[in-house]
Amino acid sequence: MTETELRVSKIEDGTVIDHVPGGQALNVLAILGIDGTGGEEVSVGMNVPSGQLGRKDIVKVEGRELSQEEVDVLSLIAPRATINIVRDYEVVEKLRVERPDRVVGVLSCPNANCITTGDEPIESTFDVLDDGVRCAYCDTIVREDIAALIEV
Ligand code: CTP
Ligand code: ZN
Repeated sequence: MTETELRVSKIEDGTVIDHVPGGQALNVLAILGIDGTGGEEVSVGMNVPSGQLGRKDIVKVEGRELSQEEVDVLSLIAPRATINIVRDYEVVEKLRVERPDRVVGVLSCPNANCITTGDEPIESTFDVLDDGVRCAYCDTIVREDIAALIEV
């Protein structure tokens, strides 16, 4: 048993998002729309030692199984995450994140003149590139710190 497991206890039913880059756990929660006010039961480990990544974050959400779409959006900040579906304390499925072609309603465009950020905002849409994301409306490309664009 590793340090991680000692620190964050096992869950009964839900999802364990493992191998998240160190420091990205709160962005994972933002993508999942979890801010605590919904009463979700969540455990978070941040910057815990991991052989594979040096340091990793781990997020455990009790009572919720993620959709493939949610999982794929996580690829923007956690490309090597492992999604473990847990039922009755056992991991019954492991999903890999895959980069989606586009993400809708997830990121806000940094261009103040973009139609998606106007007074009557329309839903943001970004095409996912190999090295970043591009607004489908104004073509603004963002390569660094995509997490800062996550809508909350
Ligand atoms: N886990 C949990 N609650 C459970 C079962 C598993 O929180 N009831 C967590 C484990 O602590 C681990 C992750 O889910 O962080 C994956 O569990 P498991 O597949 O058993 O571990 P590993 O084989 O080490 O996973 P991997 O190979 O993906 O690193
Ligand atoms: Zn835009």
